[in-house]
Amino acid sequence: MSSPSKLYEESGKIKISVRLGKRLENISKDALAEPEEFWAEQAKSLVWSKEWDKVLDWHPPFAKWFTGGKLNASVNCLDRHIKTDIKNKAAIIWEGENGETRTLSYFQLYKEVNKFANVLKKLNVSKGDRVTIYMPMLPELPIAMLGCARIGAVHSVVFSGFSAQALQDRINDAQSKIVITADGGVRKGKLIELKKVVDESLPFVPSVEHVIVLKRAGNDVMLGSKDHWWNELMEGAKPYCTPVQVESTHPLYILYTSGTTGKPKGVIHGTGGYLTHVYATAKWVFDFGSQDIFFCTADIGWVTGHSYIVYAPLMHGATEIMYEGAADFPKPDRYWAIVEKHGATILYTTPTALRMYMKYGDEIPNSFDLSSLRLLGTVGEPINPEVWMWYFKTIGKERCPIVDTWWQTETGGIMLSMCTGIETIPMKPGSATFPVPGVDAVVVDEKGKTVPAGTKGYIVVRRPWPGMLLTLWGDDEKYRQVYWSKFAGMYYPGDYALNDQDGYLWLLGRADDVLKVAGHRLGTMELESAFVSHKAIAEAAVAGRPDSTKGEAIIAFLVPKEGYAKSENLRKEVVAHIRSTLGSIATPDEVYFVSKLPKTRSGKIMRRLLKSIASGDKIGDVTTLEDGAAIDEVKQAYEDLKNVVES
Ligand code: WTA
Repeated sequence: MSSPSKLYEESGKIKISVRLGKRLENISKDALAEPEEFWAEQAKSLVWSKEWDKVLDWHPPFAKWFTGGKLNASVNCLDRHIKTDIKNKAAIIWEGENGETRTLSYFQLYKEVNKFANVLKKLNVSKGDRVTIYMPMLPELPIAMLGCARIGAVHSVVFSGFSAQALQDRINDAQSKIVITADGGVRKGKLIELKKVVDESLPFVPSVEHVIVLKRAGNDVMLGSKDHWWNELMEGAKPYCTPVQVESTHPLYILYTSGTTGKPKGVIHGTGGYLTHVYATAKWVFDFGSQDIFFCTADIGWVTGHSYIVYAPLMHGATEIMYEGAADFPKPDRYWAIVEKHGATILYTTPTALRMYMKYGDEIPNSFDLSSLRLLGTVGEPINPEVWMWYFKTIGKERCPIVDTWWQTETGGIMLSMCTGIETIPMKPGSATFPVPGVDAVVVDEKGKTVPAGTKGYIVVRRPWPGMLLTLWGDDEKYRQVYWSKFAGMYYPGDYALNDQDGYLWLLGRADDVLKVAGHRLGTMELESAFVSHKAIAEAAVAGRPDSTKGEAIIAFLVPKEGYAKSENLRKEVVAHIRSTLGSIATPDEVYFVSKLPKTRSGKIMRRLLKSIASGDKIGDVTTLEDGAAIDEVKQAYEDLKNVVES
């Protein structure tokens, strides 16, 4: 597989004549000329109980959108529809891995959310309290989130693939009062024992007063003194809960994501600005119509699920498909089967899933009726042009445009993408095209100067946008330092990019120590601290290497402590340790034991060098490496590692 930086070169093989649509160009130009007026116009699509006084209060790097305004997210997703024809429309069509389905109408979802909000109130949860949600992909997950939003509580969803240590860290950081979980989830036919993971964390999370457990897998779980069955609490709950109208800047949720430091960061999203951004981008990018059935394959544990499974589609009154299970279980055809069965019109998925399906050939997708599809989307990683072409031809039958959407947990919603709701423009396989209207994104060099066409640089955003994170939970300083210190006055996402001759943007992978493994975001330092928390490991260095399915694979170089032999057993033990502390998504693909790691004189691990070694790339000129590295030692270490890798 090609590395992201090769995508652009390869794409040159596909000839497309390009003329940027005038409509998009004009809208974008007007939006950037008067951004506040532009975003205020978009915010009018939401239901506000009190209109804002000021569109943007910008004290760099802190942006407050629609100050003085009040609204409620659950009202915007539900109450707004229940006096319209949408009331009885399917909101969620859920499908389990075993083919079981459940459908909830907007009215049913509204009822459940109201009841659940009352359950939370009864457990003394009130505005501003944090609630950790650790659940499988079931309708009760959005019900729990919207129940929190209804009373102004801040939800913190933790991906159900994370293990005890990761869950514990996130609960403690947010100081959550409540944890919501289920007796089990299902993945590849196996039961995932979520409650057991919560039980393991419970002694170490003193802020937690109650645990709510959804009964669904029939798994025999023990209830402790803090535990309640979801189903029993719901039975006694009142059917209506008055929504708490919160300030536009009130935190709607915290979502932890990995960065370049050891601990995950709690990204906080507000209410009015965030909802405006996801509402507008869903309209522009996906162009929801009343007949649409939207299938976003993300897990709600990640931001794509928050924004484009929960908030945007529900605010639009769309019907969406929610799938719990693996893409390839029991057979590598699940997405196609679901598209056919439920008549999905829009499919929004990841390059990793597409690469996996592509390996099985065309016969499987060709055996399904995919004619309901009208639009395809991708997110989470760069898409290789050959995979893009396969998606376009085999899945979309050359009828469906593809929206390659670039954005991040921190941006809240889509930042770069073709906007089919405005105008379908000529596509270039592998390019995310242009910033959405109102977003001022450009490519700059190391000094922050805009680079000429065709030059690799860093993507930055020069002005605040409504979906922008408020800050990091409990750490304004880190927020400032991570996103706003590399380039003065500009938001730094940490991705390489370039602009081509036609102005199209190409994302070229991460510029920092963050990995994208099967679309999941993992920090190398976070992985390294998990490795050294094993009793036999003294030092660890982690790097990514291109992988033909997952995009990136995790390679670990470990230095065992004295007295521990480098054995196959130890290798197995550390892999198991990573899975049980962080979760299966962090499973290393290759583990090498070495006696020392290449470092700079100041003691920094040279991950870039490790990455080149692991990828089989040339290491280049080591004399140019940072901080006056101890060249001879590095070279020696490189040779040692190379020998290990090759043996
Ligand atoms: C990467 C996921 C190329 C990028 C929504 C970004 C992409 C990180 C794309 C954020 C895309 C996301 N093309 N790369 N279309 N979309 N990325 O926070 O490196 O899980 O910075 O948000 O994913 O990952 P996150």
